[in-house]
Amino acid sequence: MLFLNSVALCALALSGIASARNVPIKKTITGHIDPSEVFSFVYVPFEVELGTTSIYVLQNYSAKGSGNALDLGIFDQRGQTLDAYRGWSGGFRNNFTITPSWATPGYNAGPVEPGTWNVVLGPYTSVPEGIDWQLEIEMGFDPVDSYFAVDSATMNFDSLCNGRCTEDGQWLRGDLHIHTVYSDGRYTPDEQIEIALKQDLDFMFFSDHNTDSSNNIMGSFQDIAPDLLIGRGIEVTTRAGHFQALGLDPDQLVEWRYADDESYTAAAKEIHRRGGFVSINHPFASCPACNWVFDNWEHNDAIEVWNAAWDAEDERAVEKWQELLVKGKFTTAIGGSDSHSPPSLNGIPTTVVRSRGKSQAAIVEGMKAGHAYIVRGPGMEISFKVVLPSLLKLNTAEIGDKVKASTIGATAVLSTKGFAGQKACLVTDRGYVYNTTVKGDGTVKRFVPIGSKFVRVEVRNSTDDAMLGMTNPVWFV
Ligand SMILES: *[C@@H]1O[C@H](CO)[C@@H](O)[C@H](O)[C@H]1NC(C)=O
Ligand SMILES: *[C@@H]1O[C@H](CO)[C@@H](O)[C@H](O)[C@H]1NC(C)=O
Ligand SMILES: *[C@@H]1O[C@H](CO)[C@@H](O)[C@H](O)[C@H]1NC(C)=O
Ligand SMILES: *[C@@H]1O[C@H](CO)[C@@H](O)[C@H](O)[C@H]1NC(C)=O
Repeated sequence: MLFLNSVALCALALSGIASARNVPIKKTITGHIDPSEVFSFVYVPFEVELGTTSIYVLQNYSAKGSGNALDLGIFDQRGQTLDAYRGWSGGFRNNFTITPSWATPGYNAGPVEPGTWNVVLGPYTSVPEGIDWQLEIEMGFDPVDSYFAVDSATMNFDSLCNGRCTEDGQWLRGDLHIHTVYSDGRYTPDEQIEIALKQDLDFMFFSDHNTDSSNNIMGSFQDIAPDLLIGRGIEVTTRAGHFQALGLDPDQLVEWRYADDESYTAAAKEIHRRGGFVSINHPFASCPACNWVFDNWEHNDAIEVWNAAWDAEDERAVEKWQELLVKGKFTTAIGGSDSHSPPSLNGIPTTVVRSRGKSQAAIVEGMKAGHAYIVRGPGMEISFKVVLPSLLKLNTAEIGDKVKASTIGATAVLSTKGFAGQKACLVTDRGYVYNTTVKGDGTVKRFVPIGSKFVRVEVRNSTDDAMLGMTNPVWFV
């Protein structure tokens, strides 16, 4: 009897091990989030066993779409720090899978190590009763047949021809703010790339919300557009505004879980330390926590003054930018389409950057120096120079250049393409100093008032005053 019993026990134990290795482990976890926790982050720990090769998470919660919104993401066994961060889908998905070879867009594939993982829930809005949530987690043990490896697009076209393929200071057309299905867009990366080609872009930065997972697969699309520079970016979506982190390295993530100034400042400094670019996105946008709540303008290289189709929020952004310029702050104005889904198109607006080469680093350098202008889209070009008299020769300064103020005065020279009949405005620290109508593709010349701190150009629709093109300033220092 005793003998039989121990055999039975042994058999049970064996079958237990066998089932743990073949049959997925399922867990259901539930909880409640109080309305006072909106804009905080709730971590839900769960154990991952040795041998696990896939994690699937399905989220459900009360009053979804009728007052409650709960974002979703995950951190792996390394903890709750940025290096443990495996992805985010915000409020766009209710489920995701991570395996060593593949993951749902927005999440990074890679090793599934045993230990305590955390689903992160981000309450965004709540009804007075709060949010009742439920997570179904399924861990599988299927054999792994391949492993994911980061595949960035080409970051430096100059290196491909030993620095001889591009001349110094070429103007490159691009879009600095583009989304895909890797966050909350409906466009796939290849659809966005096809549109960029039609919009005559030389470069584009994919910038999904709080994830580098789209950047990590772009190399596989390079053959659709062999000459297109596809830069790495993240739209860092905090609880107090959004900013653009551009020119990132592979595997470089940016902290986003905060609503305080100090944390943003630390994140911006870290981006700069690694050579990247920081731009405040749509500072006056009206969706919750989309506007720039921090009101901190000290640590950004740029402001996205023109987000998608021109509107009153962009007008306010240009006013804010002008205010900072008048105070003497060198901040670059850039545009971004923020294109997510049809019918919105990337390249509207287009930011044109004078770049010393066709590489991510050269574009970042050009933008930091203010060598950039924005136009509504294809077919529109601006050339803006300031000609300074000097004893021996005429000095010419271009957009973003800083020149020594002349007591004799300087002449602004504007040539454009695609703006016939529209209104061109010269703007200095004193505001609009000269408006005129653009005749054909002709040149506008005008004396810059002596004592101006800077001069820049706006081209506006002569009928409804909407922006059609705008430059960064030439500075008199
Ligand atoms: C989803 O959650 C709600 C509220 O907590 C619950 O009533 C509903 O039954 C859940 N649905 C599913 C499919 O789990
Ligand atoms: C999981 O997400 C996919 C894509 O977002 C969706 O089509 C599917 O219905 C979701 N599954 C469940 C069970 O809700
Ligand atoms: C010049 O144009 C700007 C922009 O439309 C406008 O605000 C300003 O009042 C104009 N100035 C004059 C003198 O018409
Ligand atoms: C200028 O504005 C008018 C009126 O809104 C519009 O019909 C026209 O298409 C605009 N022109 C351009 C170049 O956008």
